[in-house]
Amino acid sequence: MSPSKLHLWHPFTRDGAEPAPPTVRRGDGVFLETTDGRKILDAISSWWVNLHGHSHPAIAAAIGEQAARLEHVLFAGFSHEPAEELAERLGKIVPAPLRHIFFSDDGSTAVEVALKMAVQYWSSLGRAKKRQIVALEHAYHGDTSGAMSVSDDSPFTSAFSSLRIPMLRTHSAYCAHCPVGLTRATCKIECLNRLEQLLAERGHEIAAVIVEPLLQGAGGMIVHPEEFLAGVRRVTADHDVLLIADEVLTGFGRTGKMFACQRASVVPDFMCVAKGLTGGFLSLAATLTTDRIHEAFTGGDPDHVFYHGHSYTANPIACAAANANLRIFDTEPVFERIVAIERVHQARLPEFAAHPCVADVRHIGTVAAIELRVPDAGYLSSLRPKLYEFYLRRGVLLRPLGNVVYVLPPYVIAPEQLHFVYDTIRDSLGLVVQASACAV
Ligand SMILES: Cc1ncc(COP(=O)(O)O)c(C=O)c1O
Repeated sequence: MSPSKLHLWHPFTRDGAEPAPPTVRRGDGVFLETTDGRKILDAISSWWVNLHGHSHPAIAAAIGEQAARLEHVLFAGFSHEPAEELAERLGKIVPAPLRHIFFSDDGSTAVEVALKMAVQYWSSLGRAKKRQIVALEHAYHGDTSGAMSVSDDSPFTSAFSSLRIPMLRTHSAYCAHCPVGLTRATCKIECLNRLEQLLAERGHEIAAVIVEPLLQGAGGMIVHPEEFLAGVRRVTADHDVLLIADEVLTGFGRTGKMFACQRASVVPDFMCVAKGLTGGFLSLAATLTTDRIHEAFTGGDPDHVFYHGHSYTANPIACAAANANLRIFDTEPVFERIVAIERVHQARLPEFAAHPCVADVRHIGTVAAIELRVPDAGYLSSLRPKLYEFYLRRGVLLRPLGNVVYVLPPYVIAPEQLHFVYDTIRDSLGLVVQASACAV
């Protein structure tokens, strides 16, 4: 390494205590190719962003064409064709009442925008006391201050308590560890009662409830019953509290429908999208909302302006990537691929469920998770780095969330490739047996 080259500081990485990261030179379909000639099967869509395979030629071409025509123009007071087209395309697939779209840069900023809009909405109606936000246990909504505040306490947030705004927290429908001690087969979603009580008692000071609809990602790939999400919508509506659906992970087919909210026939007041919006090519995000909310930001009163924006808001190249990404849903059998992935999850998970070191298996759409029984459960489980390195040595990119191994592949993964991923996880269970007290 040349002495002038800067040290690359990687996110979420124990600097100096982990092997040097592989340098990736090419991506092709589900594979990443490293500079030392290794091929790694990407079983997590490279941080949950890739949909149709790496370096998909249609998205790559759209990016090139747009960069040569118009690379960027400020979005305050200007518009451009790729954003107009994207508004048209998204308008056809999001729940109908979401008629307004506000662009930002990534999942965290899409969440910040929703939180700020919700709070400003109530204050512009003269109800500034309605400013508290309710979020779920095990939530993860991003790393900026507001997004980190609505996220639950975790190793991600522990160093930053002074930068987090206090939030109200309520139960998640984490059925494997039911917060109210019931079992899913016979429960009536009693985990919702705490939220209902909170809203009944304090709804006058609560602006919004934020959820990851049906699937809490970084908290451990926790799958919620659809009735829970439908219930959250019902009680928020009953108490005149806004609902923010953070579809940053779940959007664009991950859960088997275009958006998770659609599986539960829920229309939120805000929907945040990012990650898959550009098919995993470029950073772009959006917060969508209804006429009711937008109305409070119109009329020319300076107090009704939404004072928020980023330099690269609605970047034309990113919008062109998003348009090309959405076009692929029309030109390729994307939902057939999604169904094929779900079939493999259904076929392979039972063998893991039967293993004594497995505490729970769960899946929704293209996402499956295997929760391992270990003495040090949680994100910092000592098993995590061992598993990660085992998988990489086998040529598979899987990045366990502590003791939860999950599979979240690009939609173009072939069934035999997905079976190979499961075979690799099966072969790793020996490490789990060594690390845990479970009797085999
Ligand atoms: C549900 C959810 N919301 C928000 C975020 C933050 O997105 P970003 O990392 O793009 O800021 C994430 C990231 O994993 C997420 O899973």
